[in-house]
Amino acid sequence: MGKLIAANWKEHPKTEAEALALFKAVAKKERPDGAEVVICPPFIYLEEIAREFKRLTPDRRKGLAVGGQDVFWEEQGAYTSEVGPAMLRSLGVKYAIVGHSERRRFEKETDGTINKKIALAARDGLKIILCVGESLSVREKGAAVAKKFVGQQLLKDLKNIPLKTGQLFVAYEPIWAIGTGKNDRPEDTRDMAVFIKSSLKKTRRISVRFLYGGSVNSKNAADYVQLKEVDGALVGGASLKAEEFGKIINSV
Ligand code: PGA
Repeated sequence: MGKLIAANWKEHPKTEAEALALFKAVAKKERPDGAEVVICPPFIYLEEIAREFKRLTPDRRKGLAVGGQDVFWEEQGAYTSEVGPAMLRSLGVKYAIVGHSERRRFEKETDGTINKKIALAARDGLKIILCVGESLSVREKGAAVAKKFVGQQLLKDLKNIPLKTGQLFVAYEPIWAIGTGKNDRPEDTRDMAVFIKSSLKKTRRISVRFLYGGSVNSKNAADYVQLKEVDGALVGGASLKAEEFGKIINSV
C-alpha cells in the first residue's frame, strides 16, 4: 500500500477563489506511483472543490481525494452548522479528519464525542483520520507516559466501534509540534507507530495506518514518511503552498 499525504487546510484560505486556485495547483503536481493525496479544505469550499475534483481527467484524479476536516455524529437533524457523513459522501468525499487537537481544545471535543463521530462515519464507509497526541507537559514526563496517554485516547475514541482493516488512519500529532516548528524525533515517531499499530492489532485485531503530523515541511517530510512503520503525514501550514506541498508529496 502506498503512502498517504493529507493536507489539513484548517481555516485557510480566506476566499473561495484562493481555495480553488490552491486545489488546482496541487492537483497538477506529480504524485509518486501508489501515493494518495487527500485535500481537506474548510467545509464552505468543499462542494466547489469536490466539483473541481470531478472535472479532473481520470489520470489526474488517480491518487487524489477530498476529505472533511470534521464530521458530525448524526446523519441529519436539528444540529445547527453540523455536517454529517452522508452529506460528505453525497459530494464524493471519501475521508474525514476526526478529533484534531484544535477541535479538542477550541470546540471542547471529548473522547466521548469523538467516539460517536467515528462510529457513524465508519458505519457510513468514510475513511477516518483520527488525530491523537500528547501535550508538552505529558511528553516531558517521558516517552512511556506519552504512549500511555495516546493508548488511553485510542481506547476511548474507538470504544465499541467495529472497524475494518484499511478504514482507519491514526495521525499521531504531538500537540507541542503542531504549528510550532518543533518536530518529534523520527526515532520517537517510529516507536509511537510501533506502539499504536501493535496495540490495536492486539486489542482490536485490526491493522491501522499511521500518519505523523506536526510541523511537517518539505525539508523534514522524508525523515518521517520514508520510515517503514510510518504510512504518511498530515500536513497543516506547509500544505497551503502548492510548491511546498508538492515537494512533500514527492518525499514519499
Ligand atoms: P502543522 O499542522 O503542519 O501546521 O503543524 C498539522 C496539523 O495540525 O494537522
